[in-house]
Amino acid sequence: MTMKVSRRSQVPPFAVMDILAAANARRATGESVVSLCVGEPVSGASDVVRRRAQELLESGDLGYTDPLGAAGLRQEIAAHYQRWYAAEVDPARIAVTTGSSGAFMLAFIAAFDTGDRVAVARPGYPAYKNILESLGCEVVEIECGPQDEYRLTTMQLDRTLQTAGSFDGLVIASPANPTGTMLDAAEIAQIASWCAAHGVRLISDELYHGIVYDTARWPGASAIGAVEQGAIVINSFSKYWAMTGWRLGWMVLPDDLIAAADALAGNVALCPPTLAQYAAIAAFSDEGYAAAAADVARYATAREIMLEALPRLGWTNVAPPDGAFYLYADVSSSGLSAHEYCARALDEAGVALAPGEDFDAVAGSSWVRVSLAAGAANVTEATRRLSHWHATL
Ligand SMILES: Cc1ncc(COP(=O)(O)O)c(C=O)c1O
Repeated sequence: MTMKVSRRSQVPPFAVMDILAAANARRATGESVVSLCVGEPVSGASDVVRRRAQELLESGDLGYTDPLGAAGLRQEIAAHYQRWYAAEVDPARIAVTTGSSGAFMLAFIAAFDTGDRVAVARPGYPAYKNILESLGCEVVEIECGPQDEYRLTTMQLDRTLQTAGSFDGLVIASPANPTGTMLDAAEIAQIASWCAAHGVRLISDELYHGIVYDTARWPGASAIGAVEQGAIVINSFSKYWAMTGWRLGWMVLPDDLIAAADALAGNVALCPPTLAQYAAIAAFSDEGYAAAAADVARYATAREIMLEALPRLGWTNVAPPDGAFYLYADVSSSGLSAHEYCARALDEAGVALAPGEDFDAVAGSSWVRVSLAAGAANVTEATRRLSHWHATL
């Protein structure tokens, strides 16, 4: 007898998975592949974090912590807001989660009901939309393409209100995935005030904070000042601290959501991974920050190599890669869809790229996303291969 599979679980698969599978198949036959399709730092956690994890494995008490995380880690995260943004954050507002993915899930459940409408930028990180829809929320996409310099503004929010009606939540990301574009402090403050004035719950994804290139122009503004007005700020150890597989993130919550998040966290996961939590305290040491800064310097080198190679690749409309480790480019001059472009770039040039369809279901078939997290040597080799290949198209 056929059993039921829920409608809510029918989220679209990532198009990049086809490319990853093909890249693995190619590697398995001994062919070389340069992979620029995954947004994952290659360095892994810093030595100071690894050493701490080893000590903890020997001697630590690794039982459950409080559902919202170990007190020591929540204090360190609060101190991080003081250190980076001169912001006073009560550790009681901080919820440590299973990656920022866990934070999004808890935040969405705590803040929204079935049928609520939540606005997101398009292109954008696909999980916001997919998870919101599986929770029964209606997603209102706001186009942020080349004509808007890929950045969300209050003008677009006003326009969305007029054309699509009111909404209950808004997710922003700066630096953004896939574009790498950023919002400055004034823009974030304007968006936060707009949301507060319209009763819209702002959720600010700050996962790529610290990974910025022109720090004078883009010091990396946070929405932390808007938490008192109801905003939720989300971050993670995955990117800046290169701890993807440790599955640790956090969110800073407004007063009205703390009790709900606490109860939900206890029910959903009991607590975030304890070994990762205690080890992550070491990420906030001078050695931890220095290791992360050295990674950012490596991404900066890879980014320079990529920018220098652009004229030879035939890509246009490149989003300003001000932060994160991505570059989002229009490949339509090739005459191929992004999916075909990525499949052929892999087949014919041995370079794996992410097709834009994953980030933008409407216009993404003209775009590809490149991850620079693979480092300078890989990016140099990829640009060499892609420019030769481009000349054959
Ligand atoms: C913009 C953005 N938000 C959230 C995530 C989720 O990351 P994690 O759950 O590892 O913290 C990612 C992962 O790539 C991302 O790019």
